[in-house]
Order: sequence, then C-alpha cells, then structure tokens
Amino acid sequence: MSQQPPAPPVRQTIVQLLSQMRDGKEIREYLHRFSGVDQERFAVIKVGGAVIQDDLAGLASALAFLQSVGLTPVVVHGGGPQLDAALSDAGIETERVNGLRVTRDKAIPIIRDTLTEANLSLVDAIRHAGGRAAAIPRGVFEAKIMDAETLGRVGEPTRVRLDLVAAAARAGQASILACLGETEDGCIVNVNADVAVRALVHALQPYKVVFLTGTGGLLDEEGDILSSINLATDFDDLMQADWVNGGMQLKLEEIKRLLDDLPLSSSVSITKPSELARELFTHAGAGTLVRRGERIKATTDKASLDAGKIEALIERAFGRKPIAGYWDALSLDQAFVTDSYRAAAITTTLGGWIYLDKFAVLDDARGEGLGRAVWHRLVEYAPRLIWRSRTTNPVNGFYFDECDGAVRRGEWTVFWRGDNIDLDDIRDVVDQAFALPATLETV
Ligand code: ARG
Repeated sequence: MSQQPPAPPVRQTIVQLLSQMRDGKEIREYLHRFSGVDQERFAVIKVGGAVIQDDLAGLASALAFLQSVGLTPVVVHGGGPQLDAALSDAGIETERVNGLRVTRDKAIPIIRDTLTEANLSLVDAIRHAGGRAAAIPRGVFEAKIMDAETLGRVGEPTRVRLDLVAAAARAGQASILACLGETEDGCIVNVNADVAVRALVHALQPYKVVFLTGTGGLLDEEGDILSSINLATDFDDLMQADWVNGGMQLKLEEIKRLLDDLPLSSSVSITKPSELARELFTHAGAGTLVRRGERIKATTDKASLDAGKIEALIERAFGRKPIAGYWDALSLDQAFVTDSYRAAAITTTLGGWIYLDKFAVLDDARGEGLGRAVWHRLVEYAPRLIWRSRTTNPVNGFYFDECDGAVRRGEWTVFWRGDNIDLDDIRDVVDQAFALPATLETV
C-alpha cells in the first residue's frame, strides 16, 4: 500500500555522489578545502542560457546541493537563446560583431526583461529544490559603453560592486547574477556573459571557476571529454592541434586569460549540472579540469633535485617512508618531477633496461592530471621500461592498462612495456626486478 514519495532532487545528488565513492574521505577533504575560503570566494559558476532553458531542474538541484553542504557560489548566467527568441519576436534581428551582440536602444527593454525573467526562474527553481538564492539581475556590473557606433549599448565593466554579493553570502545565499550592466549614471547596458565573468573573477579571485554546459566538458579528438588540461604543458600543443576547432581555441584562450589572472591554486572546471558534485568533490572529477599548471623538469642530475621534497612526496604518495639513505644510495638514471614536487617518476637502470624505481603521485595532483603528464614524459623517454609494484598497490589497474606484459610472484608484480618483447628474452631482467630489495619501510 505505502508508496515511496519521490526523492527530492538534492537528496538524489547526495545519494548519487556517495554511491560512487569508496568512502567519504575525498568528499570531506574537498568540503574542508572549499569551506576554508571566504564564501563569496569559493566559486564563480557560469551558466549558459541554454542550460537554463534545457535543464533548469537539474541545474537548480546541483546548486541547491552546494547550499545544503554550506557552500555559497556566485552564479552568473547568460540568456543567449532566450534573447534570440525574444528579440526575434519583437522583430529585431540578431547581429554580432566579434562575438558581441549589437544592441540598439530599442532592444534594451527586451534584454532587461528577458534576462530578469531567466534570473528569477533560476532563483525560483533553486528555492524549489531547497536552496537559498538571492536574485541579483543587476546592480553589480558598472560599465561604460564600448563602441556606441558599431555595437550600440554594449558595455564593458569598469567596476564590480560586490556589496550585494557579499550580503547574500553573509545570509548563506548563492548570488544569482544576470549580465546586465549599468553606466555610471544608471543606464542599462548589455554586457557579454564571458566579459562579465572575467570582470567578476578578477574582482573576487575565486578558488574555483565552473562552467556548466550541456556537453559537460571540452572534447578530445574522439569526442570524449578531456579530463584535465595543464596549460603550462598543453596549451601550445592544443592550440596547434588540427582537431581543435576555432570555438574550442576561443574557449581555451578565455580560460587561460581567467587563470592568468588568478592564484596558482585556483582552477577552472567545465562540467554539466548532473556531474557538478562529482567534479567538485572527487579527485577524478567528471568534466574537464583546467589549471595554469606546472612544468615537468627532467634531469639526470641528483644534485639539482631537492632530496627532502622527493622523500616527502614518496612518503605521502605511498603512505610509507623510503628506507633510510634511500635517496643517497640511489643511482639515478632520470627523474621527471613537477615544479611543486607533487608528482614524480624516478628511473635507474637494471640489466640494460630502464627501471622505474618510483612513480609517486599525490591524490590531488592526480585530479589535476599531473600524474598522467609525468607518465607521458616517462614513456616518451623510455620506450622500453620495466617496473614492479606490490599486488596491493591501488595504481595497478593503471599499470595493467599501460604495460605490454606482467608477471606476478607472491606479493610483487613485475610489469614491462615495449614493442616485440618476448618473455623468454627478458627472464633475466624480470628475475632481477623481483630480487631487488624493498626501498619503502614496511609498517
Ligand atoms: N575535485 C577537484 C576540483 O574540483 C578535482 C577535479 C578533477 N576533475 C577532473 N575533471 N579531472 O578541484
């Protein structure tokens, strides 16, 4: 007889998130990190008009979820499709110059009403999903007319008034901003949503910038979501890649511009509403994470590396200390280490092979794609590579994907990669790898 009432959307988000986790450790870690910053600085979230149109309930539930864990983002929304429709109903043709909507005087009331309506519908939907949100359709972006002749009433922000946003954050409310600007003397101007986000990000210096889109990330050559981009190492290659189209180039440039203006610890995520929680609260995320990133240093010179930082990285990555004198005794072949010492690959040689002695990556660096970036450098350097790992090592799944062969004996598995390798030809070196003394303390 008794029928289950439908689960409220926020509850669904939490259940979904928790069901994907082995334990709550990651969630707690990120929650701690995100709660540690002033709340109006936690995140600027940009929502395209299309998402409001196509997935309002999903969007509202994702934002209400953040509220339910005590986080108050600042949301900026556009209204592209809504504006196109409303303007065309009024007989006004959409014309763009350099991506900016040419805005004649008679379009202003329509733009104001349409964006205000989109703003209120989002605020209502968030409240309906159990969240608290403040409608701030205007009053934040003070702007000057850019080029009256060509663009009409298109404004460029000159000042971002944060008092309304700060007041909302104090009251535990997410600020929902439309990108309507006002000139100094109070005339409404149209501000492009990307330009508004840029000004807001500059003023707030948020920890996260999130773009919520229908696609849920930037796509690679095969049309799959790129998990992470490290601008320091990837930007030039991506801009030159033949599969990166003009639209994606513009996005990458825009994101680079945002990150260049933020502390190194800040990052940009592109995801979809239904994946927002997973993107924010897990290391692996769900979407595309873009960071200013760091470089990877490659060296054969032990003295050029900071021994203390290497040993600390190993200890944190494996949860066990390297044995006393590990680094001093190491006969280094090559090391690949990121600027921050949060990911490294260290090789020696063994029976004429390159032996991967340590591949150490901190969890958060893994989320940033640093581990993968170091791995790429390593395998580029060493087309033939051998390494071993304890059978309990959680990274083994990755090793099995990456290797061309492996043997397990007791508590160790030895892996190798390289073309045309016959186990018979490498028995010696495999035996030597098994026989190596352990270099981590046992606990
Ligand atoms: N949760 C972390 C963050 O939001 C890491 C996200 C990783 N995401 C990814 N697509 N690789 O900062």
